[in-house]
Amino acid sequence: MGMKILVVGGGGREHALCWRAHKDRPDAEIFCAPGNAGIGDIAQLIHIEPTDLSGLLQWATDNKPDLVIVGPEAPSALGLVDHLATAGIRAFGPSAAASRLEASKAWTCQLLERCGIPTPKSSAFDNPESAHAYITHRNQPLVIKADGLALGKGVLVCDDAQEAHAAVDKIMVKRLFGESGASVVIQDRCVGPELSVFAVCSGTDFKILGSARDYKRAYNDDNGPNTGGVGAYTPVSDATPVLIKQIEDTIIGPTLDATAAAGSPFTGVLYAGLMLTTDGPIVIEFNVRFGDPEAQVILTTSQGDLVSAIEAAIDGTLDRTVIEPDGSAAVCVVLSSGGYPGSYEAGHRIYGLENLPDNTLVFHAATQRRADGFYTNGGRVLGLVGRGNDVMTARTEAYQIAQQITFRDIQIRTDIAQIEDSKVTTAVVGHST
Ligand code: GLY
Repeated sequence: MGMKILVVGGGGREHALCWRAHKDRPDAEIFCAPGNAGIGDIAQLIHIEPTDLSGLLQWATDNKPDLVIVGPEAPSALGLVDHLATAGIRAFGPSAAASRLEASKAWTCQLLERCGIPTPKSSAFDNPESAHAYITHRNQPLVIKADGLALGKGVLVCDDAQEAHAAVDKIMVKRLFGESGASVVIQDRCVGPELSVFAVCSGTDFKILGSARDYKRAYNDDNGPNTGGVGAYTPVSDATPVLIKQIEDTIIGPTLDATAAAGSPFTGVLYAGLMLTTDGPIVIEFNVRFGDPEAQVILTTSQGDLVSAIEAAIDGTLDRTVIEPDGSAAVCVVLSSGGYPGSYEAGHRIYGLENLPDNTLVFHAATQRRADGFYTNGGRVLGLVGRGNDVMTARTEAYQIAQQITFRDIQIRTDIAQIEDSKVTTAVVGHST
């Protein structure tokens, strides 16, 4: 009898997690709460929302999974992993206290500054008047961030003081991002390409799973509004072994040490959102989960047994497992509903999925199954992953898959992983969200 694994979440990242769990443990019984129509092909869907902690706890108590893997940040920040642990259920993800690395930007900035971990100069404010005074005094390009969780959207990058003042009003006064904007962090604006680094962590121990570059703007050439991410690729040529070692030594290791010293050791996936400046890599943000769609490229290009690594992280034996990049490349291109991240229509029939060759990697983000096929059911609909020995081969495959799928009002960036030229460097200049 195989393991019983519950994956919490319902997007493309969770489809990739279920795919990887199924690949590593073909005999496992996989459940996903709530999952989506595509995930339903490899996992049993449980109709419980990720933030319904009592529902998840009841299901876990009744069904006794061997392992729970938490996909999104919100359930961890609410304490899902703590509650499951108290109930004797093994769960992979950070405690509520360790989730502050993502859930409170002010807490994280103070931790980084206190421990000398490279990050832009930052100050936190819980009233708009002092935030405005600081902007006037600082007199340079700034980034204004809502302190709390804002579905990846709570960051406004400002060119000048006028924009920064307006950003404070939007976040703190008009509450554009809800209660996450009750306080803000104001950071000096830095320039450089961005890099996302992912590590499986177990207290102060960690293993790098890989690094990726994602695309947050909706349209080509970094135009349009910020999204949750509409494309990603790995490996990134900037991420040389020397740079990764530097990131391990100056950022990941010291952050885990500092988090443990603060009384909240971190177990889970740490996502370091970095900027590669002329002075070296600096932390723009931390997330306490896999990125989406970065998971779709990291989980398809790592070797070793992820399920074993996750179990080892929970048990404190991570050093005895192998999980690392396999050296191949992957590119994920997201097909979105026209208008995303603004208003869009859902419920359009998706054509072409049924004709794809076996082993084509299509991760569903928001789809619905009806009698005659799949329909769109959200902003980001599908993530198509091409693989190869190099990024250009993987990119060609991803766009070949894209040519075979369509739905009404389809929206797609055509420049994902058009790398190593000036265009992509421009596309990633800015601050993570
Ligand atoms: N792709 C960005 C994120 O997951 O936050």
